[in-house]
Amino acid sequence: MRLAIHGVTGRMGQAVTRIAASEGISIVGAIASSGSAGLGRDAGEIAGAGAVGTIVTADAASGLLGSDVVIDFSQPAALPHLLKLAMREKIAVVSGTTRLDATGERLLDEAAKIVPVLWAANTSLGVQVLAELVTLAVQKLGLGFDVEIVETHHRAKIDAPSGTAERLRLAVEEARGELHRVAGREGNVGPRKPDEIGVLAMRGGDVIGDHTIHLLGHGERLELTHRATNRDLFARGALRAARFLHGKPAGRYTMADLLRG
Ligand SMILES: NC(=O)c1ccc[n+]([C@@H]2O[C@H](COP(=O)([O-])OP(=O)(O)OC[C@H]3O[C@@H](n4cnc5c(N)ncnc54)[C@H](OP(=O)(O)O)[C@@H]3O)[C@@H](O)[C@H]2O)c1
Repeated sequence: MRLAIHGVTGRMGQAVTRIAASEGISIVGAIASSGSAGLGRDAGEIAGAGAVGTIVTADAASGLLGSDVVIDFSQPAALPHLLKLAMREKIAVVSGTTRLDATGERLLDEAAKIVPVLWAANTSLGVQVLAELVTLAVQKLGLGFDVEIVETHHRAKIDAPSGTAERLRLAVEEARGELHRVAGREGNVGPRKPDEIGVLAMRGGDVIGDHTIHLLGHGERLELTHRATNRDLFARGALRAARFLHGKPAGRYTMADLLRG
């Protein structure tokens, strides 16, 4: 598999570069923004992995040349251009870029008519398994159990709730239908309504990302937790997704498909 990395100079791009290099994957393209401090430098050296022989470029078209799969961790505004090029050059796309707008979502679907595409708000395999466990637990426990989600992230995170908390809320709704999302409670809010789901955010320190789903019943409660202790897990999941997509027919794929093999 010949790999291109879009957003190669970022926190995630560097993690993908480092792990891909350590696994002997051939990195043939390294793309960053036109204002990037990394332009003209070796992508492996930026990532602290030693030279990989691929120079960072802002020209996505030349950066994608010769690649089979591109892994993207960049920003929503950069994704449409990448997807158009991937369609033209027939390159599979793994994207973990979050907070996509309607155009980004639509282009993922369009691209999937031509090439294999896997987008995930969280590329960790553990979170995918957690989401499946949550759906199962909510199905089995039934309406007697209230569900609340608590997520914790580092103090620099600028948005809430996390994309992963939203993903887990959808996993609950898969079993229980649409629920009313409550972001916090204050004052005389009255008793909890049966169709509520609390999605609550804590912020502080250097927490990479913790998510707990509380299933609260009569006389018992379950807590299902995932804790990320290192960004590398997202990069490992994205690389596994890239290997999975390589050689697949065009279409939209998910982390659930990857686990199914
Ligand atoms: N799916 C997951 O599991 C997961 C996990 C973590 C993060 N994320 C998401 O992944 C994305 C990146 O996160 P990060 O923490 O790595 O961010 P980051 O450190 O800010 O890196 C962003 C990267 O995108 C590049 N970039 C910006 N504009 C670009 C453009 N127009 N064309 C090409 N490259 C461009 C930046 O290049 P320069 O800065 O060098 O110019 C940089 O390499 C975010 O959306 C984040 O929420 C997803």
